Amino acid sequence: MEVIIFSDRGTASLYASKLVTKCLKRKPNSVLGLATGSTPLELYNNLVTFYQNKELSFHEVKSFNLDEYVGIAPEQPQSYHAFMKLNLFSKVDILPSNTHIPDGLSKNIEADCEDYERQIDEAGGIDLQILGLGQDGHLGFNEPSSSLNSKTRIKTLTEETRKANAVHFGSIDKVPKHVITMGLATIMKARQCVLLAFGSSKADAVAKMVEGPVSAMCPASILQMHPRTTVILDEPAAKQLVKTAYYKEVFANKPKWQQV
Ligand code: GLP
Repeated sequence: MEVIIFSDRGTASLYASKLVTKCLKRKPNSVLGLATGSTPLELYNNLVTFYQNKELSFHEVKSFNLDEYVGIAPEQPQSYHAFMKLNLFSKVDILPSNTHIPDGLSKNIEADCEDYERQIDEAGGIDLQILGLGQDGHLGFNEPSSSLNSKTRIKTLTEETRKANAVHFGSIDKVPKHVITMGLATIMKARQCVLLAFGSSKADAVAKMVEGPVSAMCPASILQMHPRTTVILDEPAAKQLVKTAYYKEVFANKPKWQQV
């Protein structure tokens, strides 16, 4: 796991944007795994700017989102379909037919989840997976106690996550109890993972993810087993880490050919 700590989320997001750009320049038909939430917003804004400046094209890109609420229609503003359209898809040249998000209104969730896995495989697998982090260490919507070997499936949200996401729905009662999410094994199949976490509310989860034991109680800790994961933090999110000086030294001495 590579841990990079920036003074603020703006610089951190810019670095993440450069990693995505590097991936798309190397392979214009990359398959991206996309995340929602407030954390990747600046990253998406940067990608839109790069596209507008003609530095980047999404014309050949395929995308697969991590998750969606069950029972929420794509048109509803709280849906992750609406989030992606608003913040990225409507602003770049990605083909709508190349974007994939689990169907929250699926009539056959089990079959559709299997199909989602198949579609990822048929696209050649995810080249770069963008990830946020839940305050309880969840990835996508893989809540604590999720199987470390899970695939795309239906999950029940914890009270904590419903509370954290209530801001988008007006009240916790309106937050769906069920979601469809890529599993932890689905995420682990990605060739590269880039996880972003900002703010002190994520500090505990970051410390458990990076320096704690690999455990279903902190689903993100499975990334310790991933061969190519970059964790991009701001100072507040990094404040409970023990090996901070070492991570900073590694980054300062990064071989030139690995720099972005
Ligand atoms: C939700 C999403 C996650 C996201 C997390 C953190 O639960 N399903 O993918 O990482 O929220 O959200 P935020 O970035 O808003 O803190």
